[in-house]
Amino acid sequence: QSGVVTYDEGYGNTGSCESKITFIDGEKGILRYRGYPIEEIAENSNFVEAAYLTIYGELPKADELRNYSRRILRGASIHEGMKNLFNGFPTNAHPMVILSALLNTLGSYYPELATNDRQKDLDNFDDAAATLISKVRTVAAMSYRMKHGLPFIYPKPKLSYCANFLHMMFSEPYNDYVLHDDVVNALDLIFLLHADHEQNCSTSTVRMVASGGANLFASVSAGVCALWGPLHGGANMAVVKMLQDIHASGDDGTDFIEKAKTGETRLMGFGHRVYKNYDPRAKILGEAAERVFAALNINDPLLDIARRLETKAREDDYFVSRNLYPNVDFYSGIILQAIGLPLDMFTVIFAIGRMPGWIANWKELAESGARIHRPRQIYQGSTQRPYVKMEAR
Ligand code: SDX
Repeated sequence: QSGVVTYDEGYGNTGSCESKITFIDGEKGILRYRGYPIEEIAENSNFVEAAYLTIYGELPKADELRNYSRRILRGASIHEGMKNLFNGFPTNAHPMVILSALLNTLGSYYPELATNDRQKDLDNFDDAAATLISKVRTVAAMSYRMKHGLPFIYPKPKLSYCANFLHMMFSEPYNDYVLHDDVVNALDLIFLLHADHEQNCSTSTVRMVASGGANLFASVSAGVCALWGPLHGGANMAVVKMLQDIHASGDDGTDFIEKAKTGETRLMGFGHRVYKNYDPRAKILGEAAERVFAALNINDPLLDIARRLETKAREDDYFVSRNLYPNVDFYSGIILQAIGLPLDMFTVIFAIGRMPGWIANWKELAESGARIHRPRQIYQGSTQRPYVKMEAR
């Protein structure tokens, strides 16, 4: 058929489908970062170490992790000039809009890290990567503070990665946010479980933009835009809104399930393009949800509804026959709500967690010497036809 090309022909030998970062077996529910099973990483590691592993390919030795943590800590503040940028956004601006804009603008404040000269950008990669891992938290927290008319809170040198984020989000100039280990650990686990996930919509976007020679800041900024979609990273917000609507309607989930089966609505947080058995991250987060709720002594009806939806869906042929099981977003939203994060920040949390994966994929593509991604198409428009003058139309 004329005009029909295969994916490879369209991409050419860009190596866009080859990667050494993350392995997924959708049938068996397997997810590994650089060969290490996600269950073992979740059990033994933390987000900063998982970020190092995802980006550099090996678990860090003690001194490597110490130096990496210090580099991230030192980079936590942003250029004072960037504070003015927040004044230009209306308070109804979505935090993902602000995040995408500010991450790209970081390249203007640190131009030596964002030259669009591939070799220079690779030479400065370590600084650019640590800058993004560190500052994405600060920009995220500042967007929340700006939207609520609150003063910006500066990072503290003694706090861990997640503790500093919560501090910048919720402390006040006159008193510090009280950090609970269970809350800090739950957030760290959510970041860790989101660190990378093969060629998902946003990561593929980062690689597409990077293939044109764009710097790391511009590439991850594009990834933020792709992640915002409700079918992708926006699903964690959509899950909580779905559960809140079910709860408000007095339905125990039965009516909602029937509506999802007719296509009238979707069971947000269910289904996955790759996992056709279960999403191992959902399993880990489902267990974490129980721990967090018990530790914080929370009895949230939304968790009960979530459990009921999961049980009902597992017994319903519509979902079973379509391999629709909970994905990472199904429980992450409930936990984020339990630890007090505002709904419109949920996808921002996903972006902070996914930053190491986007950075690792940018590095892998940049080092591969891949050609620019240029997918071809299957043309289905008009065949050739002569121009028609206005008087003859
Ligand atoms: C993430 O790619 C990644 O790795 C993504 C991610 C990552 O870490 O980066 O894992 C993160 O994006 C997780 C997914 C979050 N999105 C949601 O939870 C939104 C709800 N889920 C769906 O929209 C859907 O399941 C997708 C988008 C996740 C997957 O879509 P697919 O594989 O393209 O499936 P499809 O849309 O072709 O649906 C196949 C069938 C259809 O029914 P039929 O036409 O066969 O009758 O399944 C049905 C769909 O109607 N279906 C659902 C459903 N998801 C699919 N029906 C009800 N509820 C759902 N959630």
